[in-house]
Amino acid sequence: MKAPVMTDTYLNFANSMMGSRIASALGLPRPVVLERFQAHQPVIDGDVLVGAAAGAHWLPSLVQAFKSLQINSVAHGVPSWTSLCNQVGMMSGRWSVDGQTGARVKALVFDATGLQTLEEADSLYQFFHDTVRSVLPCGRVVLLGRVPAQCADALQSTVQRALEGFMRSLAKEVKRGIAVQLLQVDDDAKGTLEGALRFFLSPRCAYVSGQVVRLQAAPAAEVTQSDGANGNAAQPLQGKSILVTGASRGIGAAIVDTLARDGARVVCLDVPAAQDALQAVADRANGTALALDITDPQAPNALVQAALADGGWDGVVHNAGITRDKTLAKMPEHLWQSVLRVNLGAQASITQALMEASALRAGARMVCVSSIAGMAGNVGQTNYAFSKAGVIGLVHSQAPRLAQQGMAINAVAPGFIETQMTAAIPLAIREAGRRMNSMGQGGWPVDVAETIAWLLSRSAAGVNGQVIRVCGQSWLGA
Ligand code: NAI
Repeated sequence: MKAPVMTDTYLNFANSMMGSRIASALGLPRPVVLERFQAHQPVIDGDVLVGAAAGAHWLPSLVQAFKSLQINSVAHGVPSWTSLCNQVGMMSGRWSVDGQTGARVKALVFDATGLQTLEEADSLYQFFHDTVRSVLPCGRVVLLGRVPAQCADALQSTVQRALEGFMRSLAKEVKRGIAVQLLQVDDDAKGTLEGALRFFLSPRCAYVSGQVVRLQAAPAAEVTQSDGANGNAAQPLQGKSILVTGASRGIGAAIVDTLARDGARVVCLDVPAAQDALQAVADRANGTALALDITDPQAPNALVQAALADGGWDGVVHNAGITRDKTLAKMPEHLWQSVLRVNLGAQASITQALMEASALRAGARMVCVSSIAGMAGNVGQTNYAFSKAGVIGLVHSQAPRLAQQGMAINAVAPGFIETQMTAAIPLAIREAGRRMNSMGQGGWPVDVAETIAWLLSRSAAGVNGQVIRVCGQSWLGA
């Protein structure tokens, strides 16, 4: 894993012996060095503490997932947990005995799917009140909930919706690099839980926090071949051919490296002017280089031909993007048009062409790179925010179409990521962008890449039409 182009001097200072004392004495924020995934690591390095509201739906599925992912667990306030574990041959224990504070754990998982009333929400309060201080640095918290619109009655729907606010606030409180998410699981989607936990409990989601992700039912074949017991956990993308645009540097190059690590054969695309850097990225990933401007009117057809020559692609990552910032009144028309064409028009027309030509293989998965600027808006970025919000529209509108063909399309929305793009921002604005999130630091290109790699894998079966922010829970647009 490569460190980003820019060094975060303050992060290094705050984590030095002297610096941490000074930061503490002055009451300055002390962002932690985030743990990131290293090849051959277990899913999670430590015990998971389980809690549940009455009537929780997913405890048996959780036990199965933990067994498959080889996760050790303890429980607090869930009397049935030990016997459920025993049924599948796993050991488990109670976390807290006789009111004593239990041992420290690497993650908390709370099944809130049974919550139907405000009174029942007391169990949510009680569990996290008792346990939240026990989570180790860079730990994980995952809540399981239901999709509010699918609830049987208005009160249940209300309470399930309330979980979002709870989760987001907890994510802001926990600090110390701990990431918190809410997974909303459809009633018929329990087979997707294992794949989601494989990502959200692991260091792969180091810079993803405060997210609500819906898990829908996935075709049985997808789930049973997921990267768990039967699949190849070390190389979940083995045998897959995946196109990455904007691959010669920055986030795109990190995506190529990560997909290659996970076993994919990567087709690396960038503009002809970036040919040398592109070739170097492709070579180190054992992939192929394709020098092409995605706004060229011939590009969709050229990509269809390239995909068909490969026997179809299993994935596409629409990562290429540009910024041309100016306040709207001062923005010349060509800056408006160029940003829209690269960031949105090309993604839409290439997606359309690949689908119409059946140039994607069964089970193909696409990921579009949006931005939190597309959600929050930004001064000087009407063109960029239009394009990046449009990317979300593209994902939402295409997801049902792709689902009909057993495919999926999702977006990632990066926040402040340490790249050449953000290195060019003036210092004061750059420092603000870096610190204004729950992790107190910028993300690395690999953080975006890990999320994309997961979305391209069978572990994300059941995730379709979603936007996952890779922004350390940025305060912008949240
Ligand atoms: P970058 O500028 O380092 O890389 C973008 C790549 O896209 C370049 O290699 C460029 O040559 C390529 N590209 C541009 N126009 C192209 C075209 N017409 N045809 C083919 N390739 C083209 O940018 P970075 O930071 O790596 O960003 C990657 C993506 O992530 C972009 O879509 C960007 O908008 C998005 N993003 C980045 C954030 C950050 O903090 N760096 C934050 C939010 C979103």
